Amino acid sequence: MASPSTPRDGPAPPGPAAAAAAAADAVADGATRVLPVRVTVARSTLDAFDAAPADAASAAALREAAETLRRGQTVAFPTETVYGLGADALSADATRRIFEAKRRPSDNPLIVHVASLAMVDRFATVPDAARPVMARFWPGPLTLLLPKRAGAVPDTVTCGLPTVAVRMPAHPVARYLIQLADTPVAAPSANLSGRPSPTTARHVAEDLRGRVPLILDGGAAQVGVESTVVDLLQDPPVLLRPGGVTYEQLRPLLPTLRVYRKDFVSAALEAQPTTPGMKYRHYSPEARVILLEPAAAAAAANGEAPALADAAGRLRAAVLAELATLRAGTEPFAVVRTHARHTAALPDLVPWQGIEHARSVAPPRGIDYVLGDVADPAAVAQGLFAALRDLDAAGVRAIVVEGISDAHEGLAVMNRLRKAASVVRSV
Ligand code: TXA
Ligand code: MG
Repeated sequence: MASPSTPRDGPAPPGPAAAAAAAADAVADGATRVLPVRVTVARSTLDAFDAAPADAASAAALREAAETLRRGQTVAFPTETVYGLGADALSADATRRIFEAKRRPSDNPLIVHVASLAMVDRFATVPDAARPVMARFWPGPLTLLLPKRAGAVPDTVTCGLPTVAVRMPAHPVARYLIQLADTPVAAPSANLSGRPSPTTARHVAEDLRGRVPLILDGGAAQVGVESTVVDLLQDPPVLLRPGGVTYEQLRPLLPTLRVYRKDFVSAALEAQPTTPGMKYRHYSPEARVILLEPAAAAAAANGEAPALADAAGRLRAAVLAELATLRAGTEPFAVVRTHARHTAALPDLVPWQGIEHARSVAPPRGIDYVLGDVADPAAVAQGLFAALRDLDAAGVRAIVVEGISDAHEGLAVMNRLRKAASVVRSV
């Protein structure tokens, strides 16, 4: 069996008998196929989806993926947020395979992905309050809790809860695959449990090679953090997990929306594993993450330039203090910067913009990784998980991260960083 780190980008060409055997139980053979897929879209709205595979190879890969799902096996596929590890949401056996492949704790429920509203009706009911929200944000990075129909969704998916989390992904490959498989698809992020979510097919292969039969490669995920999870069944509605759809975008439709853990905390919710990231370690690279949280940034984010410059100055002083400690040690380290425009290059560090150009060279001991800029939190979100994974791959043992404000996509970014961090310092 190939070790998880063995690079192997295509299937070994087996004979016809071997191919049939491999198809029957690809995971047992340790064979994971990675197939590039492109889908061209003419129209993608809540009610309509006109799309087609871009070429014959994509069509064949999508057919194979849909058949694999229908056989009760898992398929990793791109979504606009992060890559998902999918299985037939209506099958207990199929969804159990997700938990096995990811080593996911069995009391953490899954999000069910649909290609149409008609598909939702097969397993859940849609309250009136949800309809305008779906009309505005679906397809897209928003997950809604809906009452499940009795007996329709196995307990492996919902962990016995009366609700089921549902979303309609905007990524054309995801939506086309689900439509072709003609079944709702349960899909958590396609990483080993606890690791940063994958935003490329390569990330998925790093974690799941030999553990899943098929990975569809649809390029890098555009959003980079998971979907926003909203519970509309409570009054007032609750934003449970910040993600690709921002609080600011939701507020006009949901004026009473409250953000869990920011606006309130409930002991009952804290005790549930469904409260994202509370019970389990999340998003963690091997390296320890030291998060520098700008205390004044929230106020400064949309405000005055002098306040922002002040915060940036304090942040830079804090980064330099961390650097002094790290330089005194022997471990490789990195600074992940998000305030590039406000602070000068860091002395003695080697600037990196992503790992792709640097994979062939020996990594330096100190890396200055410019992730994006505080003024563009969407870009920071898009590159966040890739940065953590890239720096792990480079052998870095400590990562100092400049935090950003909780505004817009920053809410999701800071939520993930606080969970990934072993140290959080207010600066
Ligand atoms: O963007 C995403 O949402 C990605 C892509 C693949 O679509 N999926 C994803 O799934 O992030 P996952 O399994 O990593 O997150 C599922 C989370 C659970 O940890 C839980 O917090 C919440 O969704 N959830 C699921 N079902 C729930 C329920 N019935 N009640 C409350 N929370 C639920
Ligand atoms: Mg996840």
